[in-house]
Amino acid sequence: MNIFLASSEVHPYSKTGGLADMVGALGKTMVQAGHRVGVVTPLYLGVRERFPRMMRLGLPLDFPLGMNRASGEAWSLEPMEGLTVYFVDQPALFQRSGLYEQYGIDYADNAERFMFFSKAVVHLALHLPRKPEVLHLHDWQTAFAAVFIHHQRRLPQWHAAPRTCLTVHNMAYQGLFPASQYALANLPWDYFVPDGVEFYGQTNYLKAGIAFADLLATVSPRYAREITTPEYGCGLDGLLRHRSAALSGILNGVDYDEWNTTKNPCLPYPYSVNDLTGKSANKRELQREFGLPEIGDVPLFGSIGRLVDQKGVDIMLGALEQMLGANLQFVLLGAGMPRFECAFRALASRFPSQVAVRIGFDQALSHRIEAGSDFFLMPSRFEPCGLNQMYSLRYGTIPVVRATGGLDDTVIDIRDDRDRANGIKFSVYSSPALAKAIRKALALYAEPELLQWFRRNAMAADFSWEWTAKQYVALYERMLATARPQPTG
Ligand code: ADP
Ligand code: GLC
Repeated sequence: MNIFLASSEVHPYSKTGGLADMVGALGKTMVQAGHRVGVVTPLYLGVRERFPRMMRLGLPLDFPLGMNRASGEAWSLEPMEGLTVYFVDQPALFQRSGLYEQYGIDYADNAERFMFFSKAVVHLALHLPRKPEVLHLHDWQTAFAAVFIHHQRRLPQWHAAPRTCLTVHNMAYQGLFPASQYALANLPWDYFVPDGVEFYGQTNYLKAGIAFADLLATVSPRYAREITTPEYGCGLDGLLRHRSAALSGILNGVDYDEWNTTKNPCLPYPYSVNDLTGKSANKRELQREFGLPEIGDVPLFGSIGRLVDQKGVDIMLGALEQMLGANLQFVLLGAGMPRFECAFRALASRFPSQVAVRIGFDQALSHRIEAGSDFFLMPSRFEPCGLNQMYSLRYGTIPVVRATGGLDDTVIDIRDDRDRANGIKFSVYSSPALAKAIRKALALYAEPELLQWFRRNAMAADFSWEWTAKQYVALYERMLATARPQPTG
């Protein structure tokens, strides 16, 4: 099958979160399964320098953007046979220090940036010699492409348009802009209606995709159910219920070529389920790196992530306040909202022998934290899938998670299944509930045999990408087997 994936971030070219890991691994795995894959992503600052083998495609990208025009070009890179990555190069829009924001504030022209990108995605899908049968979009930054394809079907050459699938990685980020920004699409205003692009008088990019993509997916079965409810649907639950026949929940996978404990250049000491001595050595190394006392028998909790409301940062801070009287250490790697960054820095300066934080983004350090910690805290308010808890499992680091979205689908509490328990789950979103879960972790730590049992189960859990990629391909096949959508209008 010939498949096109479009995403505003793709590992190893750009990354702010799990979206990049997901699209990078999905493309690679589909190629390994024998499909031909094109991945389209913006050309951000520094990427051309890091990947000098990239070549000019010679396909100009020149589109109206409302009353203006913007032009750019495309570059391509073939990291493996069967996989081509297309970079959309528009320096004024994409050559910036951040992907979406600077100093915690979104770029003021994000509507223009990702409308241009969505137009480029469609242009490449329709004009490259090898036309994709499926255009798989990811999140609001590419969602508008579904409207353009839908619109194509009104035109005489409509049959050339691919089918569209939109994966929603997070309902909380919708690309919501003033109504006037709809003009950037240069489409008739009949799409700007309540069952289309319009959302309470504003232009909603994600809603555009949800309304017009042929198929919808999200990144775990539980989140697929949650987003059809008002609590998790972020205002789009009604539309999602309306489109529920087209919606699937497919759990993300883990790229075990990168996230493993045996052959990993980021880890000072390799280890495996049968010999955990390397894990203890990584723990000591991590304590040294963070300036914490190098004590072997103190339980070490780690956490990595965007410091935003979604990740349960407020209850993590509250629970740590309650629990720091106990014998435990905590290390954090993260960046995000300034108030959360300050709060963690303050906690570290009040408890210097127990708490240490690194504010910033550091992929190699994230591996060392996963490997050196005993427990991994992920108390998310909501979590579409979550990758870190799956990385923790493979690293024998017991995840302590709130039972929501993909966290609930991937972590097994002893109350769910005694024999397969690999983590600790709690339900109520509160600091005391998390503090109680941390106390359970301390109790587990005090029972080495039980802890070893949890670790064995954790390291045996298998979330390989092959399974996830197969689910998506089955979805595409179902979509291609149904009658082509008829031209409308
Ligand atoms: P989300 O996509 O919501 O941020 P996920 O758990 O799906 O959450 O994925 C987060 C990814 O980003 C993981 O690969 C994680 O290791 C990485 N990550 C998040 N924050 C940082 C950071 N400060 N430094 C390094 N990696 C980070
Ligand atoms: C989003 C979600 C996260 C998910 C990731 C990859 O960023 O917040 O839960 O794992 O996308 O799908």
